[in-house]
Amino acid sequence: MAEVSITSLVKRYGDALAVDDLTLTAADGQFVSLLGPSGCGKSTTLKCIAGFEEITSGTIAFDGRDISGDLPEDRDIGMVFQSYALFPHMTVRGNLAFGLEMRRVGRAEMARRVDAALEMVQLVPYADRYPSELSGGQQQRVALVRALVIEPKILLLDEPLANLDAKLRDEMRTFIRDLQQRVGITTVYVTHDQSEAMTMSDRVVVMFAGRIAQAAPRARSTTVRQARRSRGSWAMPTSSGPCPRGRGGCALPRVRRWSRCRGWTRAARPA
Ligand SMILES: Nc1ncnc2c1ncn2[C@@H]1O[C@H](COP(=O)(O)OP(=O)(O)OP(=O)(O)O)[C@@H](O)[C@H]1O
Ligand SMILES: [Mg+2]
Repeated sequence: MAEVSITSLVKRYGDALAVDDLTLTAADGQFVSLLGPSGCGKSTTLKCIAGFEEITSGTIAFDGRDISGDLPEDRDIGMVFQSYALFPHMTVRGNLAFGLEMRRVGRAEMARRVDAALEMVQLVPYADRYPSELSGGQQQRVALVRALVIEPKILLLDEPLANLDAKLRDEMRTFIRDLQQRVGITTVYVTHDQSEAMTMSDRVVVMFAGRIAQAAPRARSTTVRQARRSRGSWAMPTSSGPCPRGRGGCALPRVRRWSRCRGWTRAARPA
């Protein structure tokens, strides 16, 4: 698929600095999560990668080619926005088919992929409804499969599971991760949920005030799970669990303390 490499990215909105000299690489097929408090620049980073925001300075390259000047539609990206951004004048089926039509996928193949996507997110009965006739969680699922159904080179997901109930969120996590691994899509995933980031990602990057505060060592998720099983000390701090260094309370909302602690980094390193 594609390696995404961001070098010294700066994004300003007037005087406000949303992204401050961010350098990050997502290797080909890697699943990278961005974690961090509200307003730290996660969504802005995704929008810059997708081309929906013009960058102030720095470069964004796919497979070594600088695409900073390319239009969004030329970047082969699937994106789920925090605000869904469904086409309001199209039904659910129309929303899912749109990207495939743009890619000139044949009718039979398009119908097959749209039906499979609807089934996957349990929205078959809603296929002919318009977005305004759906709940927030249903809209979110449509947005998610709309990005996945085109099987893009790069997938950018901005809190795609935030409005789902716990059971559906669990199913969708597995679904996203399985699909990502099967197709090998390079994925940048924004979430506030630390355990979600840890179970799904190859790499977790913590942002604070537009910068990278900390990047967890690269580890395949299977290795992470194995490490968690085999080493009692492998305990990424969660809102309910203690920090392995014994300080406790390193939950995401207090990311400043968490990133200063660093105890989890050492404990997290797989044997
Ligand atoms: N269009 C805009 N104009 C001016 N400032 C903006 C704009 N979009 C974002 N910002 C500012 O840039 C900063 C980063 O915003 P961003 O949306 O990237 O945060 P975030 O990390 O995604 O937060 P959240 O977790 O709440 O979604 C914030 O301070 C925000 O107010
Ligand atoms: Mg955001």
